[in-house]
Amino acid sequence: MITTTGLTKVYRSRGREVTALDGVDLHVREGEVYGVVGQSGAGKSTLIRCVNLLERPTSGTVTVAGQDLTALAGRGLRAGAALREARSHIGMVFQHFNLLSSRTVQSNIELPLEILGLSGQERRRKALDLLDLVGLADKAKAYPGQLSGGQKQRVGIARALAGDPKVLLSDESTSALDPETTRSILQLLRDLNQQLGLTVLLITHEMDVVKTICDSAALMKGGRVVESGTVAELLATPGSELAAELFPVGGEPSGPDRTVVDVTFHGEAATQPVISQLSRTYNVDISILGAAMDTVGGKQVGRMRIELPGRFEENVVPIGFLREQGLQVDVADVHTPAPADALLKEGAK
Ligand SMILES: Nc1ncnc2c1ncn2[C@@H]1O[C@H](COP(=O)(O)OP(=O)(O)OP(=O)(O)O)[C@@H](O)[C@H]1O
Ligand SMILES: [Mg+2]
Repeated sequence: MITTTGLTKVYRSRGREVTALDGVDLHVREGEVYGVVGQSGAGKSTLIRCVNLLERPTSGTVTVAGQDLTALAGRGLRAGAALREARSHIGMVFQHFNLLSSRTVQSNIELPLEILGLSGQERRRKALDLLDLVGLADKAKAYPGQLSGGQKQRVGIARALAGDPKVLLSDESTSALDPETTRSILQLLRDLNQQLGLTVLLITHEMDVVKTICDSAALMKGGRVVESGTVAELLATPGSELAAELFPVGGEPSGPDRTVVDVTFHGEAATQPVISQLSRTYNVDISILGAAMDTVGGKQVGRMRIELPGRFEENVVPIGFLREQGLQVDVADVHTPAPADALLKEGAK
């Protein structure tokens, strides 16, 4: 539904150049909720603004619903109308809502419909339908100033849906909201995604948002996408930074010459019996350093960090056993205390 290839954006201001996007290839499938995370300045907002051509990419292409927007943007005046038309099918939701305070809620939603040239009656009907959809049927005549943050964002979402978009872009749409309201807005986005088959590309700095509603995610750093995939794929990628952030399993090894492995399991796969079986079969003492179990993208996922005595070379067979059971096993690259540290700890005991 959304594809970017080699997307690059270089800002030039006062003789300085900032490469905000550096060759981004993004693939968002139809009907999925796709999250983009990354630190401040990573290029997330620039990416989303380039996807709907609010920002003109320096190079690369953006295709939305099979239409090459970058080609449209490059074709002069007549193409301007075509680009506007294509853009009207991409909804955008903002962190600070961007509602007009002098207009009623209904009139805010009617605004893009006026631009699309709908009659007064059509606009009214559509606006009221959208308000109903976002759960604000009784607020049509209210002004934005009379609404809570969550209600304002619902209006923002209703307005974004006015052009019957196939794609909804959201830049930190829950960042100004408290946790409870955030949950309700995320639920609304999920419902819209499922009811309308809407594809959602959202930017967030909260891993919880990804955990709650995203099917796929990408991690940006310095204008590049450094990791991407479905949440299940990410969890199955050894050393994935996103997986580790989605699923933090802490736990430091208890001493030198220990092998620490992270075991990931999806769905019903029961780890516990496998671990005790391993312990019995190979007669090894296994300590569980940390464990987490949660629902990610609607699927049960668990991770467990365990410790085996001895170096990795001595544990090749037990690790092989775990893999044979269909579990995903990553040998964790954790700091092993230096002998001095261990001695100090021993001394403290
Ligand atoms: N209009 C602009 N002119 C010059 N530089 C810009 C402009 N917009 C963004 N940048 C620079 O591009 C880089 C990426 O900015 P961007 O706003 O995309 O980051 P972000 O990931 O959205 O960050 P945040 O999480 O803080 O919103 C930053 O170094 C920023 O300073
Ligand atoms: Mg931003």
